[in-house]
Amino acid sequence: MTKAPVEQTNAAHDEAAARNPVLVLDDVSYAYAKGGRNVISHISTSFRSGEVTSIVGPSGAGKTTLLSLISGLTTPTGGAVLFDGRDLATMDRYRYRSRDIGVIFQSFNLLPQLTVLENIMLTMDASGKRFDRPKKEIALDLLRQVHLPERYAGERILHLSGGEQQRVAIARALSDDPHVIIADEPTGNLDGATQADIMRIFTDLAHKDGRCVIIVTHSPQIAAQSDTVFKLNPQPR
Ligand SMILES: Nc1ncnc2c1ncn2[C@@H]1O[C@H](COP(=O)(O)OP(=O)(O)OP(=O)(O)O)[C@@H](O)[C@H]1O
Ligand SMILES: [Mg+2]
Repeated sequence: MTKAPVEQTNAAHDEAAARNPVLVLDDVSYAYAKGGRNVISHISTSFRSGEVTSIVGPSGAGKTTLLSLISGLTTPTGGAVLFDGRDLATMDRYRYRSRDIGVIFQSFNLLPQLTVLENIMLTMDASGKRFDRPKKEIALDLLRQVHLPERYAGERILHLSGGEQQRVAIARALSDDPHVIIADEPTGNLDGATQADIMRIFTDLAHKDGRCVIIVTHSPQIAAQSDTVFKLNPQPR
C-alpha cells in the first residue's frame, strides 16, 4: 500500500523533515530586482535524504526560482539556504554545483550535436573530480540506471525522443554522484508509462541510494507518489 505524502505549506515547518535535513531553507525570500516584489517570501522548510519531495504550485508561484536558490545558481535576497548546516552564500558554490548537487533542467540543456556518451562524459570532465573507474564505464552504468539501452550510447542527442533525452539528462546529473538531485518538471510532456518509469528512477535514487530528491511537478500522480509535497503559494502582485 502506498502511503499518502506529507503535505507542507509555505508557512509550516515540517517537524519530521527537521530531524535529518540535508538542505534547509531558513526564512528565504527572493526578489528579481532590487526593491522589486518578492517572488519567494519568507519560506522555511527542509529536505531530507532518502526521500522524494515534490514542489507543487500554480504557474508563476516561484518553483523554478526556488530550484535555482537550492542549486546555488542564485542567492536569496533574504534568509539563507543551508547545505549540511553551511550557508550556501558563503560556500564555494561552483564546487557545490559540480559535486554535491545534480540538476535536471526543464529544457534538458543537452548538447544536441554530441552523442549520449559525450554529453555525460563532458560533465564528468568539467567537474574536475577524479573517478576510480574509466569514465566510459561509469557512463554506461548510468545509462543502465536510467533504463536507456546501451545502443543509444553513440547516438546524437538530436536523434532521441523527449523521453530518451530526459533519461540522458538524469544520467548526466548523476555522473558526479551527487547527494542531492533536483529536477524541474521531469515528467512533463511524457506518456503515462514513461512518466511512471522516470518516477521509479527518482524513487530508487532516494529510497535505495539514500539521496535527497527534489522535483517540481504539475502532475498530481507524481506528487501523490512522493514522500513529501511542498506547496508553494503565489505571492500577491
Ligand atoms: N529572470 C527573471 N526576471 C524577473 N522576473 C522573473 C524572472 N524569472 C522569473 N520571474 C518571475 O518570477 C515569478 C516566478 O517565476 P518561476 O519561473 O519561478 O515560476 P514557476 O512556479 O516555475 O512557474 P511555471 O510553473 O510556469 O514554470 C514569475 O512571476 C516570473 O515572471
Ligand atoms: Mg518553472
